[in-house]
Parts: sequence; structure tokens; C-alpha cells
Amino acid sequence: MDPQMMKMICLTPVVACILLVAADHICVADVDATSTTIVCTNFALPNGYPCKEYTVTTSDGYILTIQRIEHGRAGPQVGASRPPVILAAGVLQEAAQWLLNSPEQSLGYILPDAGFDVWFLNFRGTTDSSRHVSLSTEDKEFWDWSLDELASFDIPATLQLVYQTTGSQAYYIGHSQGTTVALAAFINTNVRQMVKAAVLLSPIVYLHHITSQVGLAFSYMYLDQVYLLSGASNFNISSGSLGSALLDQACVKVNCGDILNSFTGASSEFNSSRMGFYSKFMPQPTSANNIAHLAQLVRNDGLRKYDMGQVGNMNKYGQATSPEYNISSIPKEFPVLLALGGLDHLSDPVDVQNLIYDLRCSVKTIYNPHYGHADYILGINAWKEAYPQVINFLRSF
Ligand SMILES: *[C@@H]1O[C@H](CO)[C@@H](O)[C@H](O)[C@H]1NC(C)=O
Ligand SMILES: *[C@@H]1O[C@H](CO)[C@@H](O)[C@H](O)[C@H]1NC(C)=O
Ligand SMILES: *[C@@H]1O[C@H](CO)[C@@H](O)[C@H](O)[C@H]1NC(C)=O
Repeated sequence: MDPQMMKMICLTPVVACILLVAADHICVADVDATSTTIVCTNFALPNGYPCKEYTVTTSDGYILTIQRIEHGRAGPQVGASRPPVILAAGVLQEAAQWLLNSPEQSLGYILPDAGFDVWFLNFRGTTDSSRHVSLSTEDKEFWDWSLDELASFDIPATLQLVYQTTGSQAYYIGHSQGTTVALAAFINTNVRQMVKAAVLLSPIVYLHHITSQVGLAFSYMYLDQVYLLSGASNFNISSGSLGSALLDQACVKVNCGDILNSFTGASSEFNSSRMGFYSKFMPQPTSANNIAHLAQLVRNDGLRKYDMGQVGNMNKYGQATSPEYNISSIPKEFPVLLALGGLDHLSDPVDVQNLIYDLRCSVKTIYNPHYGHADYILGINAWKEAYPQVINFLRSF
């Protein structure tokens, strides 16, 4: 286990601390029975699903909120085992992304109705996970992280929580950035051992060949660096903010039209009458470094740690370039399902081929030629065009 991982992973409020495995100190907490966040209050409970909320403190002090829908609307089936599944959302999203359409259409409801015990990961910085043991969101240091920390702290802490609570390995389903950080995390054997199988929806692991015009313009104009130079530490694209001004810059070069479609690829799968509703829950805050890290993945080949420049890299990594995550070191026995869309402008076929190659043929795929980047989450037909295959895949392990 790498040294950062060996630091304390704590679950709060701290009720009891136990030693789980030799190197990993785990603090376990009881459930916070009061459900106050959006997933429970606005979605699960009003739709007739049970909802519990947990907090877990990462070893670098971020307090993450994890919601759990333990069983479906029909109640727990007596005697049936309910395998845990972790759902990990994309950048600028929070867990509510899995519940935005009707219970019949949304994966976050379909899984518990199909007999799974579903855990919703909210990565650091999102509204539900905006607390830290000593820092506040007003502190610059609160926002000092990138994909690396999501992979080395948030994912292991969540897997530990689920493992501690249920006593079993979890399935992992990630979307977009939730796939990037998953593979970076699963390189670590101790982390991967807590995962039974992974489903990567619209994976963005290698980003060097994206065709998203806004994404390309943003990266190659180094607007992420402009943003960092401004001294801002969290990435805010609300109107009137610097983030929004920089996006406007990118949009001078390319025709953005509808900002969502220009980032993700045109989609005819959205329920257009629900766009206003979706926008209440996104975009979620993230760190400026995290956006810069994603932009680096577009400019550089491969999945690498955060690039701090030659001097910074020497100091942090002991080498001039930022180290690459060796995806090939994930053993080929580890089961992975990739869900790909033909209109996904962030997930280019060349990048996907490289990913499949590096995962060394352990991979199964689902392909929907008419899907853009968000359609495995928001598409109105995903319930019949994708989720049955996802569920069959999970059930086969
Ligand atoms: C984002 O920017 C808007 C407009 O400048 C501002 O009102 C808001 O407080 C900012 N949000 C955060 C989390 O910094
Ligand atoms: C689209 O959303 C509207 C408003 O929420 C809903 O009434 C309608 O059933 C949805 N259409 C589809 C095809 O899901
Ligand atoms: C990556 O991992 C594979 C499989 O373990 C190994 O063969 C390869 O040498 C590694 N590559 C690097 C650059 O370390």
C-alpha cells in the first residue's frame, strides 16, 4: 500500500476505532440516521426508497457524505443477499446525477429494485462533501487536490466504509471522471481487492484524442493555467465568475451553442423538458487543480499524475515528468465492462482502443452508436439499451 494510503482512513463521527488490516488503520462510525442531503430528501425517500447517510473522513481530512439505498421499493427480499454497488459520479456532478429521471429510467433506482445495495459516493468539493476536519471551503488549501487525491483517498475511504459495513467486496460503477479515478485507484492491489468488478460508463482515462471542441479549445489555450494564475482555487462556472468568462473565451474560438452538448457531443437522448430540472443539481464545485489535471490529460499522452512543472515534479515525484499510472498493471482477471457512445466527444475511439489494449483484453463492452457522453446517465432509453447489460454483467461475478 502506498505511503499516503497508509495514513489513517477514518469514518466519522468517530465511535470506535479498530485496526482492520496490518497497515490500514480504520475508524468506524455509526450511521447518521438523519437524512438531510439531496439524494435522500429530494429523491430516494419521496420515491418510496429507504435512504441512509454515512460520513467517512479520508486520511487527508475530507469528510465525505455517502448515501445508501439498501433495497428497492418492494422492500428487502427475505433471505436474498444484496451485493453492494458503489456509484461514482463525474466531474461537476454529485450523486444526484444517478437519480435525475424517473425511478423506471434512473440507474440509481433500478439497481436497488434489481436487488443491489447501492452506495452513492460524493467526491470532495461537491455540496454534500464540502467539509474537512480543519479547513473550510473558504481556505485555499481546501481546494489543493486533483484526480490523484480522489483516486488515492476518496475511493479507498468509500470502499473501506462499504467493506466495513457490509463485510463484502463491492461492485463499482463510475461515470466519466468517476472512471478515471477508479482505474488510477485500482492499480493499488489493496484497493482493488475490495472491488468485485467495475463498470465504466463513458470512460475518460486517456483523453489525448478528444473531439470536444470546447474541451480542446480550453486545454490548448491553457485556460486552466490562466485560471490558476488568477489565484482562484475552486472552479466556479456560475455566470459572472471567472470560470464562466474563460469558457466564453473558449467559445470565441469554437461555436459552443448549447454548452452541455458542445462538451459532451450532441445527444438526442436527453429529455429536453427536464433540462431546467437537471441544472438545479449541476454544476457542482470542484478544484481548479482538478480541472487543470483534466486539461493536462488532453494535452499529454497517457494517464499521469498532476503535472507540477519540471521543478515541482522533481520536488514531488523525484523526476522531471509527472509519473504515469500503469493501467496495464491491473491484472487481466479483474472484470471490467466499458459502456461507450458513438457520439461521445470526450471518449475518442483511439483513446478507448488504447485503454482496452492496456487493460489487456479483460474488457467487455457495450456500444450505443447514438449515445453522447451523458447518455448512460441521463438518456431516456438507457433503462432498456444499457442497464440490463450492466446488471447481467454484475450478476455474472
Ligand atoms: C461562484 O461565482 C459566483 C459569481 O461570481 C459567486 O456568486 C459565487 O459565490 C461563487 N461560488 C463559489 C462556491 O465560490
Ligand atoms: C420527460 O420529462 C417530463 C417532465 O418531467 C415527463 O413528464 C416525461 O414523461 C419525460 N419523458 C420521457 C420520454 O421520459
Ligand atoms: C506496467 O505493468 C506491466 C504489467 O505488470 C509491466 O509489464 C510493464 O513493464 C509496466 N510498465 C511500466 C512502464 O512500468
